[in-house]
Amino acid sequence: MQNKSQQAAGTVVILGTGGTIAGSGDDVGYTAGQMSVQALVGAVPALAGRQLEAEQVAQVDSKDMSHAIWQRLAQRLAHHLAREEVAGVVVTHGTDTLEETAWFLQRVLAPAKPVVLTAAMRPATSLQADGPQNLLDAVTLAAWPGAQGVVAVLQGRVHGPAEVRKRQPFALDAFESGEDGPLAVVQEGQVRALRSWPSGEALGLERIAADAGTWPRVDIVVSHAGADGVVVEALVAAGARGLVVEGTGNGTVHASLLAALARARAAGLPVLRASRCSGGAIVGSPEGALPTAGVLTPAKARVELLLQLLLPPSS
Ligand code: SIN
Repeated sequence: MQNKSQQAAGTVVILGTGGTIAGSGDDVGYTAGQMSVQALVGAVPALAGRQLEAEQVAQVDSKDMSHAIWQRLAQRLAHHLAREEVAGVVVTHGTDTLEETAWFLQRVLAPAKPVVLTAAMRPATSLQADGPQNLLDAVTLAAWPGAQGVVAVLQGRVHGPAEVRKRQPFALDAFESGEDGPLAVVQEGQVRALRSWPSGEALGLERIAADAGTWPRVDIVVSHAGADGVVVEALVAAGARGLVVEGTGNGTVHASLLAALARARAAGLPVLRASRCSGGAIVGSPEGALPTAGVLTPAKARVELLLQLLLPPSS
């Protein structure tokens, strides 16, 4: 039960994109993205009587997330967030690329109202289904007056878009915010804030208005023992417009790979440096080092570079 202060006036819109939360089958051999978002809402008795609207934006396993779906999702979010009667929006999503979508939406929309991504590690048909509780918590959060920006809620923990990452391939408790920790917790319908919510300036929908098929190609290359420049050269030849290097440790890069990246930069390609480590941020930027993506995972750094390359129409 929510107390009075947590009962925000307003509609919560739930946008479905697929994922295991909408999956059907056993705990390993299931198919993601099978059940409609309306069916997911209908399966949570505690949501009956809430002011909700549900809309299916996509129905995919999030490993297959595309730029075109991101574009459509951002457009539908902007539409609903602009409606006065809407308190916030929930997005049901797969866990596998949730963190990339979260960063993309935060950078494009930086919404003043909450956009709450949620997901599940077990399909809707599982005896251990975690989707219903996650969806209930997401609706609670989307209606909570203290929330803003794009966040993710799973297992009662609310994660910020820069920090959220999937750390475990199968456990129910698969998400974390690293050293920074969660923004808030949701327990028994009560939200307890722990630190400040995401803010910042929105890049705006115009930034992503071009046909998604024409968006610049940005790829990730990995530094590892025995690495060389072959992949970088192949990607440049294939038309890459930007590269993220997933470096070792504090963002260090094998000398042979680094030489190829330096040639790519000299040819005008921007390069961002992230870390293979599963937590923490790259510290410092020694003279001459490639620009760092800070706390962003390589996959989020790719989103960041993509958005930088998608210049506004006027520039
Ligand atoms: C997906 O990301 O769509 C499948 C995996 C999951 O949601 O847990």
